[in-house]
Amino acid sequence: MARILITSALPYINGVKHLGNLAGSMLPADVYARAMRLLGHEVLYICATDEHGTPAELAAAAAGMNVREFCDKMYAAQKSAGADFKMSYDYFGRSSTPSNHALTQHLAHALEKEGLIEERISQQVYSVDDKRFLPDRYVEGTCPACGYEKARGDQCDGCGKLLDPIDLIDPYSALSGSKNVEIRDTNHLYLKQSEMAPRLRAWIDKAQGWPSLAKSIAYKWLDEGLLDRSITRDLSWGIPVAYEGEVRPGFENKVFYVWFDAPIEYIAATQDWAEEFGGNWQSWWRTDMGAEDVSYVQFMGKDNVAFHTLSFPTTLIGSGEPWKLVDKLKAFNWVTWYGGKFSTSEKRGVFMDQAIELAPSDYWRWHLTANAPEGSDAGFTFEDFAARINSDLANVLGNFVNRITKYAGAKFDGKIPSLEQFGGGTWGEAEDVLVAELAERLPKMIAYYENMEFRKAAAETRAIWATGNEYLTQAAPWSQYKTDMDQAAVGVRLGLNLVALFGILAQPIIPDAAEKILDAMNVPKDNRTWNFGDNDWSGQIKAILDALPHGLEINAPEVLFAKIEDADIAAWKTRFGGEG
Ligand code: MF3
Ligand code: ZN
Repeated sequence: MARILITSALPYINGVKHLGNLAGSMLPADVYARAMRLLGHEVLYICATDEHGTPAELAAAAAGMNVREFCDKMYAAQKSAGADFKMSYDYFGRSSTPSNHALTQHLAHALEKEGLIEERISQQVYSVDDKRFLPDRYVEGTCPACGYEKARGDQCDGCGKLLDPIDLIDPYSALSGSKNVEIRDTNHLYLKQSEMAPRLRAWIDKAQGWPSLAKSIAYKWLDEGLLDRSITRDLSWGIPVAYEGEVRPGFENKVFYVWFDAPIEYIAATQDWAEEFGGNWQSWWRTDMGAEDVSYVQFMGKDNVAFHTLSFPTTLIGSGEPWKLVDKLKAFNWVTWYGGKFSTSEKRGVFMDQAIELAPSDYWRWHLTANAPEGSDAGFTFEDFAARINSDLANVLGNFVNRITKYAGAKFDGKIPSLEQFGGGTWGEAEDVLVAELAERLPKMIAYYENMEFRKAAAETRAIWATGNEYLTQAAPWSQYKTDMDQAAVGVRLGLNLVALFGILAQPIIPDAAEKILDAMNVPKDNRTWNFGDNDWSGQIKAILDALPHGLEINAPEVLFAKIEDADIAAWKTRFGGEG
């Protein structure tokens, strides 16, 4: 059994996330965490809110709140949105906690001792009217690369390029709108990424578990030449630039850059988890204290790849301390909203707190996993959502469970038919076909989860469910019943065991429906794992298909998946403005 550390990119604090964010980091990380737990691995799934930086300050100001209160409120909102979507975090932390302050300052200090941090004078945009420097998003203007007129100082939403605020054309203050800005000298700490480039390249060359998207992004940055980056900002909300409690002279009004401290929170959140639940954080993060056998898997959208393959590793490797580095990295493309962009700032699309009002979390989890933005961007429309739910969940899985459990209730007293009572049936061709198909598909499905190919894992799960309906059509216990109850009992017994199996396999993606099914089938909690061996699949499947004790009472679960009606789609489109 392996020990698997899982992190998903930390959702930024400025608002509850939209479905695109969910689909490109938290949800697949959760599906993976659940699947790995079912396979018996020891999993630690860590997430947190990313709370520092200019977007937090700006969002708080827009809400008329002080930034700490704003973060408290939004943390609670994001935590409950995560719970609504059944995120099985082992810990959901906050990057503003004392543990992250201490660890961020410690790592900066270590980097400085290694000669990788340097204080430099640089030019910054200063707003005369606001009487302050305007870092990152505090300044907006025209993108020098693409001409987009509302580019933010740190990044252009038009072309995606990372920017330096002083390069903006016609800059103005995002605070006051004032164009009375000038370039002034200020001092900042620089992380000498250029010096780390050879060590990073050597490490990336060796990396095995990265998909091509992640590797190509990392190499592109290395090939273009890694620039030294400033890791401090002229802000008050954030982690003070202090070592061992002493603020660095000249940095009284500065804090560390949000992208410096945010990934460090992966570790600090693990420390907080250990503190709260009595765990051992070092055994997950320190290769000198047990973490060398950990498999560390990161999930993120593609815009986060450079930070996770270059900046954060620079921090960890450069510290000279034995930190655990990422082993496998799963990066996602975008989910598009009716062909355009989801946008938090423009409130385009459906956000997690709204989605849960429209449909149960399982529906979203299923659709966003089956349609994961894996190989390319994935389009979202309510029409596709409804079609997939009605077909996969309602028609394929729901219908199967309903058909056979109702029938068993009506004709077999709601019990698994026993051999004593119905011993005369025989195993025939329909059963052999079913076993052969499951023996092929089940290991494939598991391999897809292990390889983090989520669309394929969902497709294989659906294909397995579909074998149930095919089997029932072939075995037709309802026709057998009239002439040969024993033979009908073979189909019913097997069908009910399939219900339990399908519930067990559904757990990573649709945990609520899976639980309803397994509760209805009276499957004990301990028997819900994926405790399959990895050879003799046919033998195992035969055993699985007769696992429920004969005579066990089962129930027909209440309606598992109500269909989505055209009227629902129409109402949603009116509310959310689908088709722009
Ligand atoms: N908050 C960032 C975003 O929304 C992701 C931070 S990931 C971490 O893009 F590495 F900083 F943790
Ligand atoms: Zn641009």
